[in-house]
Amino acid sequence: MENIKQNQGVEKSSSFLMNQADYQLVIDDFRHRVAAVCSHGPAKAVEKHRERGKLLARERIDLLVDSKTTFVELSSFAAYGQYDDAFPSAGIITGIGVVAGRECMIVANDATVKGGTYIRETIKKHVRAQEIAFKSKLPCIYLVDSGGIFLPEQANVFPDRFDFGRVFFNQARLSAEGIAQIAVVMGSCTAGGAYVPAMCDETIIVRNQGTIFIGGPPLVKAATGEEVTAEELGGGNVHTQISGVADHLADDDEHALAICRKLVAGLPKPMKQAIDLKDPVDPLYSAEDLYGYLSTDLKKPVNVKAVIEHLVDGSDFQEFKAGYGKTLITGFARIKGIPVGILGNQSFLTAESARKGAHFIQLCNQRQVPLLFLQSITGFIVGKKYEHEGIARDGAKLINAVANSTVPKITVVIGGSFGAGNYAMSGRAYDPDFLFMWPHARIAVMGGEQATGVLQNIGGSSENNSLIEQFERESTAYFSSSRLWDDGILDPADTRDILGLAFWVTLNQSVNQARYGIFRM
Ligand code: COA
Repeated sequence: MENIKQNQGVEKSSSFLMNQADYQLVIDDFRHRVAAVCSHGPAKAVEKHRERGKLLARERIDLLVDSKTTFVELSSFAAYGQYDDAFPSAGIITGIGVVAGRECMIVANDATVKGGTYIRETIKKHVRAQEIAFKSKLPCIYLVDSGGIFLPEQANVFPDRFDFGRVFFNQARLSAEGIAQIAVVMGSCTAGGAYVPAMCDETIIVRNQGTIFIGGPPLVKAATGEEVTAEELGGGNVHTQISGVADHLADDDEHALAICRKLVAGLPKPMKQAIDLKDPVDPLYSAEDLYGYLSTDLKKPVNVKAVIEHLVDGSDFQEFKAGYGKTLITGFARIKGIPVGILGNQSFLTAESARKGAHFIQLCNQRQVPLLFLQSITGFIVGKKYEHEGIARDGAKLINAVANSTVPKITVVIGGSFGAGNYAMSGRAYDPDFLFMWPHARIAVMGGEQATGVLQNIGGSSENNSLIEQFERESTAYFSSSRLWDDGILDPADTRDILGLAFWVTLNQSVNQARYGIFRM
């Protein structure tokens, strides 16, 4: 706290100011990249889309959500740096928006990106959105405008367990759980894509724009010789008056979105977990001041207490076991009035800090307090002394506690995420409800230099530079987000607001008491 107080004064320390200036460059670069991935497809495709009288996918979302609410977009960087960057945001926009006062999961195809077709990352993003909706009981709204599978990629998207078929499997399961499934057909729904509206509880279709068919006109002609227009085959009139595949006919995009808002307004409101909520209180420090505590040099440990005090209500952090296992900071606070238990790395994990973390997670589960993991971790401490003391056993305790924890948990990678530290601090494999990265964060099994050292010692590759370069490239937040290893990259200054909404939706979950396996003592 002392450190922070010093930095709030007129005279901020020189290292604070240097970090702030350096981090501003990271943020400028981040914003530049966000603008690139959020700009839809090529200009020609955007023009054609508009000429048809259609709104762009992001404009549709803007009209759908309640005014003055924040749409929390997920994984905007999906497919970034892959496929010659021909699939910005993987051609699909997903995120949580408030519609008629209810938090909903919105999934919108971007038809200006290769006809809204699905590559591997498009499917991962769609399926991940449904997973989040399933866990936190969020009604799903699909703004459909898609040519189905991107055919050249069919081997990567069609047959496997979490491929295209999973989208419809999830719709059936979500509907069975009583989680509303609503489609707004605003363009093409071809082949497999036809099942998105067909599997929904209620479907709206836009006249002379939306089409639903298992085989489009060219396929029908090739198969049967029948010549038919898209509208005659599966347009709005056909499906609302003849086939009954859709339920509501809209005149245009605006009308369709207005109908959708009405349908959502009629849904029952979710029951929130009975939890001791308080009025939100702003932190004592400005969000942008966080930049002054971050360094792009991940070898320098992050002052995690300072980070916490910039994120939580009133900067009020009730530390737990402050004097023990000091490389892991644990304690209670509130974010936007919601009580949370926070675990943040101050350095590598030791046996003491692992035991402290396991104890704290049990405590939060016993009290039904959601967890926030702030990862900035190089891994567990190594060496003969520590192995003899049984560091693996104590690390396993923490991993056991994280894996069996049942309260909602959110992870933010605020620095490095390396080795088993990633697991113990609720990495992707530990099913956090959300996992976000900060733009300078890195994630890999280990650093490039360490990997080179390991390989050299076991007589492996001697091409140090290429391995270091490979690790460097593959560990960035952008590389991670492109492959959906996380739910998106956040500006540290926006993190508090997004965590507030994310924790709020997790309160829709009904939490069972945690049961742990055997803790090796
Ligand atoms: N697989 C691969 N590429 C596809 C595609 C698909 N299923 N559907 C569209 N594309 C590509 C087009 O080749 C074009 O690429 P380009 O920009 O590099 O030239 C781009 O997406 C846009 O398609 P286009 O036909 O120009 O746009 P449109 O808005 O007029 O029509 C569709 C969009 C989706 C209605 C139309 O492309 C279509 O009917 N596609 C085939 C749908 C299909 O049969 N899918 C079955 C797969 S499950």
